[in-house]
Amino acid sequence: IKTLGVMKAELTAPPFVPAPVGKRVAKKLIVDMEIIEEVAEMDNGVEYVYWTFGGSVPGSFIRTRVGDEVEFTLKNHPDNKLPHNIDLHAVTGQGGGAEASFVAPGQQRTFTFKAINPGLYVYHCATAPVGMHIANGMYGLILVEPIGGLDPVDREFYVMQGDFYTKGKHGEKGLQDFDLQKAIDENPDYVVFNGKVGSLTGDNAIKAKVGESVRIFFGNGGPNLASSFHVIGEIFDKVYLEGGSKVNENVQTTLVPAGGSAMLEFTVESPDNLVLVDHSIFRAFNKGALGILSVEGEENEKVFGGVIAEGPYNPETKIDDGTPPIETEVVVDENPGEPVTTTQNIDEVMAKGKKLYAQNCLACHQPEGQGIAGAFPPLAKSDYLNKDTDRAINVLLNGLNGEITVNGDTYNSVMPAQRLSDEDNAAVLTYIYNNWGNNGTVVTPEQVKKQR
Ligand code: HEM
Ligand code: CU
Repeated sequence: IKTLGVMKAELTAPPFVPAPVGKRVAKKLIVDMEIIEEVAEMDNGVEYVYWTFGGSVPGSFIRTRVGDEVEFTLKNHPDNKLPHNIDLHAVTGQGGGAEASFVAPGQQRTFTFKAINPGLYVYHCATAPVGMHIANGMYGLILVEPIGGLDPVDREFYVMQGDFYTKGKHGEKGLQDFDLQKAIDENPDYVVFNGKVGSLTGDNAIKAKVGESVRIFFGNGGPNLASSFHVIGEIFDKVYLEGGSKVNENVQTTLVPAGGSAMLEFTVESPDNLVLVDHSIFRAFNKGALGILSVEGEENEKVFGGVIAEGPYNPETKIDDGTPPIETEVVVDENPGEPVTTTQNIDEVMAKGKKLYAQNCLACHQPEGQGIAGAFPPLAKSDYLNKDTDRAINVLLNGLNGEITVNGDTYNSVMPAQRLSDEDNAAVLTYIYNNWGNNGTVVTPEQVKKQR
């Protein structure tokens, strides 16, 4: 019997992966993993007690090859409160190693298995209550490369989705407890990549250069939801379906079940922020399942041409039939500083404003200006609106993004600029200011014009 050489496995925290196996021969691979229970941030000001394999969610990435004999040591830190274990889907045998790896706090246990089938496999804790251990972050990926290794690529990333259930609703600050009933109802407050909101956005965005080939090792820890994984602005050249050996090509969105995975390959052709989402899209924009792959390099017009023409479109514009245009009245402010007296009748302005509101604002700000909690701020009794008329005019002219506070609640979203005339902007604002408990300001077209 020939004995295998011994090698210590490199373990990495997301979004990084260990070096490829390449042509190396099968080895006895030593995996040394520590379970850590710790408080970390799930969202701005929102904290959670995560249970982790190796101190990250998802847990450390393990990279092996077919034929490796893995000697796995699982250590449960003495400061931890609970016993844990590991079920690796790459293992053929009892519970994927669950029984053999069961460890109490302050204990360690070593077991061995042989990597037989190539593929990208999920591992997770399987200690009762199993759902709770997974919901608290106890999952990760183990890759078993085929003989000869996967094809080399320029960049590899580790991304894993998970759903989280907190006592408070999405965004509620402070240390949040696990909510068992929400987990049973499969109604998560957070659906995120790599354990928290914003793990792959802003400074944490993953990066590539134009022309590079990218591989994402994507896993889904669940515990409940399947993921409709999609990258906005990109097409997957190859998808290793369900993390197995079968390859599909030219895929827009791939379905990854809870406890499953996929390997995705594509080449980035133009310098954009590609957006990673769960295309069950409210999860992306309202629960956190959103990440950025930032691509830098030269613009490539052969791939994406950008805007080549632009102009007003008004299907109601009449062709000139010889009738003279309707004269519009010009109001001159003869007494600057004094309130402007419009010749327009206030009832007409209000009627026009009501109609404009229904056409342009109601879909988001709602019929009575009540808004939608967490998404669209209220216009009814809005302190933000009532405090500063010029600022409100600017919101309509230029749109608004970034964090604002309205009646004590924060919003951090995007409102598109409204393409309305000075008269229409004035009418819709006057309508809003004279309804729903607002301060009765009359906004004039001149005031709007000054802000342009
Ligand atoms: C914010 C008015 C259309 C989404 C605001 C604010 C005003 C306003 C005054 C400041 C916050 C407040 O006082 O509550 C209007 C008017 C509209 C209009 C008069 C129509 C002419 C829309 C539409 C959308 C939208 C169509 C959705 C597509 C938002 C969002 C914010 C906002 C998301 C908060 C932006 C942020 O978080 O920075 N809007 N809005 N609005 N509006 Fe509108
Ligand atoms: Cu556990």
